[in-house]
Amino acid sequence: MQKITTLDGSITFHNEQFDESYHSRSGAKEEAVKKFVEPCKIKEIAKTGKLKILDVCFGLSYNTVAAIDAALEENPDCKIEAVGLEIDTEILNAITEIDAPFTNFFMMREAVKNKKNNSYTYENKNIKIEILLGDATEIIKTINNEFDVVFLDPFSPKKCPKLWTAPFFAQIYKRMVPKGRLATYSCARVVRDNLKAVGFAVLDGPQLWRRGPSTIGVKL
Ligand SMILES: C[S@@+](CC[C@H](N)C(=O)[O-])C[C@H]1O[C@@H](n2cnc3c(N)ncnc32)[C@H](O)[C@@H]1O
Repeated sequence: MQKITTLDGSITFHNEQFDESYHSRSGAKEEAVKKFVEPCKIKEIAKTGKLKILDVCFGLSYNTVAAIDAALEENPDCKIEAVGLEIDTEILNAITEIDAPFTNFFMMREAVKNKKNNSYTYENKNIKIEILLGDATEIIKTINNEFDVVFLDPFSPKKCPKLWTAPFFAQIYKRMVPKGRLATYSCARVVRDNLKAVGFAVLDGPQLWRRGPSTIGVKL
């Protein structure tokens, strides 16, 4: 994996197998905050005192850690449960090798050092992080939980089509609370059609760096 410093100073990598980068070169941290954390209204949910996150394609953890930073900034006593799905140990190991500009990145480092069977965990009084290793389309079926927000961040539909299908979206939908929000960077027609097909209302997400809007799915 080739290491890249993005324009906001945060690190990402290029994956040779998929020939795609883990984040936009315009700013990896900015992408996590603007495309995932803000449209999912993390700070609003944190005010209720409880937040449950499903991070599909966990990678370097930026979406989850940016959400934890935002939630604890809003409400230091917020109880947070985050479940990450990731297939590749190489990218998880990279978490221990980089500095990332997030207050709570240490939790991610601790998690990836604490592996039992196919899961990694970090836990303190209020926060529980669990990263499940394997193919997201299979592991999702083993999860019994209801999430307030879902971050959907696979490689592109062209390179990773099975993570953008209606059957997979239906598995996600089942595990969300009513009015729960899903955020993804893609505005591809097939992605929006598949989200609608399983019941999501689809909204435009923010537009960054003069690209098309991202997509928000709201569970009806
Ligand atoms: C765009 S990157 C995600 C970036 C990540 N959200 C972050 O903040 O670093 C896509 C991720 O999907 C993972 N991936 C690819 N196929 C997968 C699958 N079938 N199940 C789970 N994860 C998969 C890759 O290993 C990669 O880490």
